[in-house]
Amino acid sequence: MKIGIVGAGNVGGTLAMRVLEKGLGEIVLLDVVKGVAQGKALDMNEAGPVIGYEPRILGTDDYEALKAADIVVVTAGFPRTPGMSREELLEKNLDIVYGVTRKIVSIAPDAIIIVVTNPLDLMTYAVNKISGFPRERVIGMGGALDGTRLAYFISEKLNVSVKDINPMVIGAHSDSMVVLPKFTTVSGKPLPELLGWDDMEKLVERTKHGGAEVVKLLKKGSSFYASSAGIFKIIESIVRDKKDVLPCSFFLNGEYGIKGICIGVPIRIGRDGVKEVIELNLDNKEGEVLRSSAKIIEDKIRDIDAKIKNKG
Ligand code: NAI
Ligand code: 2OP
Repeated sequence: MKIGIVGAGNVGGTLAMRVLEKGLGEIVLLDVVKGVAQGKALDMNEAGPVIGYEPRILGTDDYEALKAADIVVVTAGFPRTPGMSREELLEKNLDIVYGVTRKIVSIAPDAIIIVVTNPLDLMTYAVNKISGFPRERVIGMGGALDGTRLAYFISEKLNVSVKDINPMVIGAHSDSMVVLPKFTTVSGKPLPELLGWDDMEKLVERTKHGGAEVVKLLKKGSSFYASSAGIFKIIESIVRDKKDVLPCSFFLNGEYGIKGICIGVPIRIGRDGVKEVIELNLDNKEGEVLRSSAKIIEDKIRDIDAKIKNKG
């Protein structure tokens, strides 16, 4: 498969290395800044002989290289700085995502687009609108990252292997994300059977602010190791047609009682993109929290529609 990565910064570069090392396909790494993608690709190809992978990555600033790509990952855009919310990136990143999406549509019209740029749910919605692609071919990566953070925190707390943990975090990829302890299992047992309320609440809160915790420590830039791992899982499920279920931002058509926005829900992912939305049996409280998370996104949608219309 041909996998394009637009934006060769921290996330794009690290993702390219993960995909290359696992031999998932031929990679095109693209950045608007001349030399960045070329330099990183050269460096990665030169690591192939010692690590033992084939040099299958091209670095470029030319969109023509994305021709006939099967998957294109959009990581182009600004990351947040300490104290900044993901939503504050909207104005600048919508401009970038608009241009990038238009190019993808003309050069790789059959691709599955994986959106990473923040604010994630709004950008995933924007890519749906701008591309006009069927919703099955636009996936936003957010919940996979939030989930892997939760799983790590649980493994530390309970001193168990991360392999035994199946996390579930849905809702917006923002502070209003919905951590679902009852649907998070450790060796098949729901989390509330293993942790008291206070301890669980601490893990939930740490997960909600997991991105900000990393930003605060780094002082410049945001997460890229765990985030590229989340994107890798989506790509792997497409390339190998694994049909993995991962919480991702997806355009909803009434599932969970939500319509016309993108928000994180568990979806089954395979060769052609999204195969199915998994509707968890949420209780009243969980459903209410998901709807308030959706409401925050809904309130911004009209603004996005107007901005896209002005650009068109
Ligand atoms: P970065 O600043 O390291 O890299 C961004 C790259 O995009 C830069 O190399 C820049 O030159 C490039 N770029 C800008 N405009 C472009 C264009 N028009 N075409 C091609 N390339 C362009 O930032 P980083 O850390 O890689 O993050 C990228 C984005 O991903 C940010 O918006 C960040 O908030 C978001 N992010 C989202 C996550 C999620 O869970 N959804 C996780 C981590 C980051
Ligand atoms: C995160 O959660 C930056 O959205 C990204 O780390």
